[in-house]
Amino acid sequence: MEKINAAITGVGCYIPDYVLTNEELSRMVDTSDEWIMTRIGIKERRILRDPDKATAYMAEQAVDDLLRKKGVSPEEIDLLVCATVTPDMRFPATACLVADKVGARNAFAFDINSGCSGFVFALSAVSHYVESGRYKKVVLVGAEKMSSMVDYTDRSTCPIFGDGAAAVLLEPVTEQLGVLDEDLHSDGSGWIHLHMKAGGSLIPPSHETVDKRMHYIYQEGQPVFKWAVSKMADTAETIVKRNNLDPSHVWIVPHQANLRIIDAVQKRLDVPKEHVMINIQKYGNTTSATIPLLFCEWEKQLKKGDDLVLCAFGAGFSWGGIWLKWAYDTK
Ligand code: UT7
Repeated sequence: MEKINAAITGVGCYIPDYVLTNEELSRMVDTSDEWIMTRIGIKERRILRDPDKATAYMAEQAVDDLLRKKGVSPEEIDLLVCATVTPDMRFPATACLVADKVGARNAFAFDINSGCSGFVFALSAVSHYVESGRYKKVVLVGAEKMSSMVDYTDRSTCPIFGDGAAAVLLEPVTEQLGVLDEDLHSDGSGWIHLHMKAGGSLIPPSHETVDKRMHYIYQEGQPVFKWAVSKMADTAETIVKRNNLDPSHVWIVPHQANLRIIDAVQKRLDVPKEHVMINIQKYGNTTSATIPLLFCEWEKQLKKGDDLVLCAFGAGFSWGGIWLKWAYDTK
């Protein structure tokens, strides 16, 4: 029997309308456009302001966009996975809400929470479902309402994050296309540098946890930065070398946490700058949505057979790279 690969055959996205600029942030906390641009590389980020809408809403819009573009009916979807750290509720899984809203009534659905590596880890997981031959149409959506857990009085974290969602369709192919290699890692000792202090089973929510502002992102920027620079470059290099990819031709699709981290990856791999996908200046760090949002933006430029190297680092710590051969041309 021919080997089945899992190929991305379509993309869709949703970005909220509200633009939170560095100028507006400078009126909220003691910061400046100059500091944010120099240290992080973000000019603005999008925020979902409607208090009645959250991650599932954005994921639903992204999946609708994907299905519309592909002409696929929601009933055809076998599996719908949502990568997110900002589920609408602790349970049920946001993916179940999305499947219901889009009408994917034949799909089973679940979430994957792996911080900023969520999309890469989830892409690995869903690709194995497709490779098994048992599932023919699988939707993976990365969606985040990061603004729901950003402390807008903390200048060290509030400039970084934004909201958004993007979805991909995976289908089986027998050509040498799609997800072809992966290099995934975790080191839980890093939790101390990046986490949310309360709201889980260890410290359930209480008046005290709210008063102590323990329901926001807690990040020690410098250790996270050092780990991210070395691990994102290591994993991308592993993928390139192990598969004899030509650095002058590959596309680098890096998680968008900090422009300085992305630049370090580009320099280590010595790939041309124009082959590194970057949109951090417009959207900031949308956690599980950064990489599929890049696919949406670059879709028209990508050609069937192009080699893409995805790489991400995030909470856990967790990090990883994927070799993806793009499977279609866009007319
Ligand atoms: O995606 C998940 C993984 N997360 C990441 O990859 C994030 C990794 N970390 C980073 O990107 C960077 O560490 C940050 C962007 C979070 C911070 O940049 P940094 O260059 O590491 O700055 P720092 O924390 O060392 O702070 C330098 C200075 C400090 O002032 P002093 O102590 O030198 O007087 C901070 O208080 O900058 C100050 N500072 C700010 N100043 C103006 C911190 N935040 C701000 C701000 N505006 N927003």
